[in-house]
Amino acid sequence: MLVVRTIAKLRAVQKKWHSEGHKIGFVPTMGALHDGHLSLVKAAKSKSDKVIVSIFVNPTQFNDPNDLKAYPRTEKADLALLQPLDVDLVYIPDAGQMYSDQFATNISVDGLTNCLCGASRPGHFDGVATVVTKLFLQTGADKAFFGEKDFQQLQVIRRVVADLNIDIRVIGCPTQRETDGLAMSSRNMRLSPEARAIAPSLNHIMQKCIIDVKTGKSVGEAVSNAKQRLAEIGFGKIDYFEFRDIENLELLEQLDRPARLFAAVFLEDVRLIDNVEIK
Ligand code: PAF
Repeated sequence: MLVVRTIAKLRAVQKKWHSEGHKIGFVPTMGALHDGHLSLVKAAKSKSDKVIVSIFVNPTQFNDPNDLKAYPRTEKADLALLQPLDVDLVYIPDAGQMYSDQFATNISVDGLTNCLCGASRPGHFDGVATVVTKLFLQTGADKAFFGEKDFQQLQVIRRVVADLNIDIRVIGCPTQRETDGLAMSSRNMRLSPEARAIAPSLNHIMQKCIIDVKTGKSVGEAVSNAKQRLAEIGFGKIDYFEFRDIENLELLEQLDRPARLFAAVFLEDVRLIDNVEIK
C-alpha cells in the first residue's frame, strides 16, 4: 500500500495506472475511519482495478474552529485499518499541499445547499464541493464512493460532477449502522457512555415517525410527536427533522414522491445526523 503525500507523486502513479488500462476507484475521507468508511473501500475494491483512499481533514468545510480542532486525527490507526483491505494508495496531503497562499477559487452549489446542513453550517458545502473537486482532479479517478449517511453531500457532489462535466461516476452506498441502529460516524467517539446509550433512539424515533405517516398521521403531527419524544429522552437542540424530496431536497408536507426523512440533533455537544429512505 503506497502512502503518498504530494500531488506530483499522486499524479505520477494515477497516470501510470491509467496508461496500463486500469480503472481507479476513489474514497475521499477525513480519517478517523470506522466500518462505514471501510464499507466504501470494499465497494470501491469490488468495482475498480485500483483503489485510492484520501485522508485530509479539510479546514474549509468547518464553520466552527472548535469543531475543526476537536476532529479526531488518527493516521496510524487509519492506515492499519486500510492495509488489510488491499488499498492500493492512501493519499494524505497536508493543508499547504491543498491550499496555496494564493488560493482563491470556490465552488458553490445553489439551491441544494440552502437547507438541512447547509442552513446551519454556512460555507460548509462550498468547502466540501471545492475540496472534492480538487481531489477528483488530483486522483483522476473513474468512480468515487460516498456514504448515503451524508445524503445532502452526495447530492451536492452529483450536481457538481454533472454541472462541471467531470468524468467520474459518483456511487452512493448505504449508511452503515451499529447493531443498535446508530448511524456510524467519526463523531460517535465523542459521546459520553450515557449519551451513547441514548443516541440510537434518534434512528428509532425516525423509523416510528415514518410508520406514523404511512399509517395515516399528517407529516406535521408525526414530526411534532417525534420532536417531543427526542426532547423527553434527553436530546438537545434539533437543527432539523424534516421529510424532503430525494432529488431536489425540497421540503415535503405530504409523501407524494420519493422522499427521505432527515435529522440533525445535538446530544451533549455532539451534532448527530441521520437520514432514512422511505420505502
Ligand atoms: O464526508 C467527508 O468525510 C468529507 O466531507 C469529504 C467528502 C472527505 C470531503 O472533505
